[in-house]
Amino acid sequence: MNVRSREEELRAVQMLGLKLPTDPRWVNMAEMDLEEILTDHAYCEQKAATACISLIQAYPEHEELVRDLAPIVTEEWGHFRMVLKELDKRGLKLGRQRKDEYVNKLLAFQKKGSSREERLLERLLTCALIEARSCERFRLLSLNINDEDLKEWYHKFMVAEAGHYRLFLDLAKAYCPEDKVRQRWKEYLQREAEIMEELELRGDRMH
Ligand SMILES: [Fe+2]
Ligand SMILES: [Fe+2]
Repeated sequence: MNVRSREEELRAVQMLGLKLPTDPRWVNMAEMDLEEILTDHAYCEQKAATACISLIQAYPEHEELVRDLAPIVTEEWGHFRMVLKELDKRGLKLGRQRKDEYVNKLLAFQKKGSSREERLLERLLTCALIEARSCERFRLLSLNINDEDLKEWYHKFMVAEAGHYRLFLDLAKAYCPEDKVRQRWKEYLQREAEIMEELELRGDRMH
């Protein structure tokens, strides 16, 4: 069996093509109020599960997509439950859902009025990008947060979300011409870096 060492896992997910690394001070901001960052994280996991359900509902004829995303729904919901458990363990409460400016800006970048297949590409690339940025941030948390238990805890999320990032990109390539995927992915990466610069760095947000 090919078991990756912790170092290999960390190296493999370093940037995932992202153009702008997160300001390392973000971890210090996030760990100042765990209830806030865990609440935001919890809803990110919920939204990830919902996005997969909604893709399955929209493209039931794409068997590979249905087959691959069905277990991810369960996995993301499992992640949501892991966050709930962590909140409980620490005597913290799940707060209310916040406006997700990062995701809203990415959604605004999606091409509107295109064909159904083109819309699929937009949705898959958006999902891949959110996974990539989440993974980059989980990596930072796993390396730099002071709480030793949380280091390990965030490492698990990092590995899982890296797998999802690859899956969404593979699905994009399975259903859309590769040169088109590559071109549009480049545009998304560019836009994502701009969005990161536009957004205020906040310790109560995963993105
Ligand atoms: Fe997740
Ligand atoms: Fe994910």
